[in-house]
Amino acid sequence: MQDKVAVVTGAGRGIGRGEAIELARQGAAVVVGEVDADAANEVVAEIVAAGGSAVAGIGDCSEVDAAEALIKRAIDEFGQLDALVNNAGILRDRTLIKMTPEEWDAVIKVHLRGHYAPTRAACEYWKTAGRPGHIVCTASTSGIMGNFGQTNYGAAKAGIAAFSVIVAQEMKKYGVNCNAIAPAARTRMTEGAYGEIAGGEEEFDFWHPDNVAPFVTYLCSDAAAQISGKIFGVQGDAVEIYRPHTSVAVITNDGKRWDPNDFITASEALFAESGLTPGAENMMAKLRYSMTDRGA
Ligand SMILES: NC(=O)c1ccc[n+]([C@@H]2O[C@H](COP(=O)([O-])OP(=O)(O)OC[C@H]3O[C@@H](n4cnc5c(N)ncnc54)[C@H](O)[C@@H]3O)[C@@H](O)[C@H]2O)c1
Repeated sequence: MQDKVAVVTGAGRGIGRGEAIELARQGAAVVVGEVDADAANEVVAEIVAAGGSAVAGIGDCSEVDAAEALIKRAIDEFGQLDALVNNAGILRDRTLIKMTPEEWDAVIKVHLRGHYAPTRAACEYWKTAGRPGHIVCTASTSGIMGNFGQTNYGAAKAGIAAFSVIVAQEMKKYGVNCNAIAPAARTRMTEGAYGEIAGGEEEFDFWHPDNVAPFVTYLCSDAAAQISGKIFGVQGDAVEIYRPHTSVAVITNDGKRWDPNDFITASEALFAESGLTPGAENMMAKLRYSMTDRGA
């Protein structure tokens, strides 16, 4: 990342903080995007104290003006933009029946508009400047598998995964790659969910938020320019890759329109061929890495 410039949203704490610090450690000048000025300034000070370059970009990244200002700050301050990490996020967990429109809208806005607005501004810059670029979006296993009590968050995160795949296709001709990660780490967002599992100072702390940053830094580099439109699980020392939703079985009706009554028996064949069970499943229980099997 030497002589490169990166913007990280929500970089004042948690996973984003780790990403900003690692990008700077690898030589990038970093714009620390944050809605919380104190948190941003602390990260900037930490990077500068370690000999790196960073400035704060204060504002709500889901507001178009603030997102455009964030991208402009990188160009004005450091002369260019090479990588954008869309990381900012919030939770408002509630089962659907109890969920208020405000809780729904807040999560959809911060995550989806919070990805759209900086990405649009960065892509416009890369197209106009004729420069290559790298984008890392932040999805979640909640969006891929579906986590109980998170219809708002899961819908936003599934949207981010789709957004990322489509941006990758649209920006290919401009030399911009775009990937998404589904991280897992112990942060303010997951307070209490992931216990400290390191047995001592020497031992690897699997759920430490800084464990996400090395792979994200790689995705922000020219060395990963050929990787695009992919979704990775990142936690501890584990990097997974997800296969996109894939059709696994089909039933047809000899080239004729179906009668709804036919499905009473025909749907059984569809499920039998697919190996899937018809009812609602707890897909999160199938995660390769979860807090339950890691002694949280
Ligand atoms: N921690 C996990 O296990 C986990 C799992 C899956 C996905 N994620 C995702 O990773 C990302 C980072 O989460 P975290 O766990 O580090 O959370 P965190 O709460 O520790 O940090 C998020 C940061 O984003 C900032 N932020 C929130 N809204 C913002 C906005 N509109 N504009 C600018 N900054 C904003 C917050 O002030 C905060 O500093 C989020 O997108 C989250 O959904 C985290």
